[in-house]
Amino acid sequence: MENALQYARTNFDHFVTELEDFLRIPSISTDPEYGPDVQRAAHWIADHLRHIGIQRVDVMETPGHPIVYGEQFVDAALPTVLVYGHYDVQPPDPLELWDSPPFEPVIRDGKIYARGTSDDKGQLFMHAKAAESYMKTSGSLPVNIKYLIEGEEENGSASLPAFISDNRDLLAADVVMISDTALFGSGVPAITYGLRGLAYVEVTLTGPDRDLHSGIYGGAIENPINALARLIAGLHDDKHRVLIPGFYDHVIPLKQEERDTFASLPFDDKEWIEDVGVSNARTEDGFTVLEATTARPAIDCNGIWGGYTGDGAKTVLASKASAKISARLVPNQTPEEITEKIRAYFETNVPSTMKLEFRDLHGGHAVLVDTDSPAMEAASEAMEGAFGEKPYFTRTGGSIPVVADFKRLLGLETVLFGFGLDSDSIHSPNECFGLDRFQAGIESIIRFMHIYPTK
Ligand code: BES
Ligand code: MN
Ligand code: MN
Repeated sequence: MENALQYARTNFDHFVTELEDFLRIPSISTDPEYGPDVQRAAHWIADHLRHIGIQRVDVMETPGHPIVYGEQFVDAALPTVLVYGHYDVQPPDPLELWDSPPFEPVIRDGKIYARGTSDDKGQLFMHAKAAESYMKTSGSLPVNIKYLIEGEEENGSASLPAFISDNRDLLAADVVMISDTALFGSGVPAITYGLRGLAYVEVTLTGPDRDLHSGIYGGAIENPINALARLIAGLHDDKHRVLIPGFYDHVIPLKQEERDTFASLPFDDKEWIEDVGVSNARTEDGFTVLEATTARPAIDCNGIWGGYTGDGAKTVLASKASAKISARLVPNQTPEEITEKIRAYFETNVPSTMKLEFRDLHGGHAVLVDTDSPAMEAASEAMEGAFGEKPYFTRTGGSIPVVADFKRLLGLETVLFGFGLDSDSIHSPNECFGLDRFQAGIESIIRFMHIYPTK
């Protein structure tokens, strides 16, 4: 292992240069215009796995973007780690808020800036570099590894569940490892044990059959924009609890023990408030920021449009108003159940003068992973070795729906071995990844591979 660690340190600058090539590909999965770039990113990472010596690498077609599968079989007596990651990225807009172009990586103050640095190309790439470090120094790996790398994660992973259930034997493993989450803070190692789920919908209200002059008709028309605004405002009460009937029915309440642990974590509400640039947090009554953002469900409007939004003034009563709305879920809410409850809320409350269209965009289950397993023990020791202190066990408010699918379809637990920071601006302008964390991540993965077979 020491040789592998040494190799990773010696070759670090070269690793960064290679990552830059990966980052230059604008693999934006949600935008059909970037289809060829998404393909290119799939082939880039496949070729790279071949280049570092992975025995079997296939780019497998799906109804959507390809899945890259890789496999390094060493010995049937060794455990098998299934590494999952995604080579697709979020759109970079608004472009004008980037200090440097999103697909031209640059290093400033020890951080590499580009779309996908932290989510997830940089973190995925750590796994390739850790394996390379081992193989180049000892000719082999201390574990069997399989890679499952998809290109639709940022767009709802439409092809992935079917791929997993159609390829159960191919994907058989002892544990899944994913680096697509965050540490608890800079230099504060953490292993994530909880992810929130997601229910994402779009609603459109249609009133009059065309836009109307607001002088001629205003005063006698129920305005779809006003009505939609009222419906959205009605999602919460003044204690910031969600008013959708039955929303909390299946929520597993936070145990006092877990709340105590949350309270003991080095988290400062004031700093958090300052960092996001608001004057105060607005949590569900009785819950801290950390609880409200990671262990309690929430619902928010993600976008709203209708009528005239250009420069200047246009006197118009819009025919239509639309909104994108997403709920973050916790165990044991399900996306199906919550989507139906959101639908019922809108159907019940839509004014009788209006037509409602409701679209279910996508969803994913929340999960709590088992923290008491040989793989978790190995992961914890590995992080301790790399960071010099034991990791905290934390929950995150983000979603990685495939974790529940691995459990449901393959019976596998996942180790969420992430090295991002909440302040990496993922999905935002100026996404970045600290080179210190790129390095610590590679070292942690090398250590994990070494320790896991001994557990
Ligand atoms: N890597 C993120 C998930 C994440 C975000 C984990 C923040 C930890 C902290 C992932 O790529 C992501 O963006 N997931 C989406 C859901 C997906 C279904 C589009 C999310 O959480 O919005
Ligand atoms: Mn991600
Ligand atoms: Mn993401």
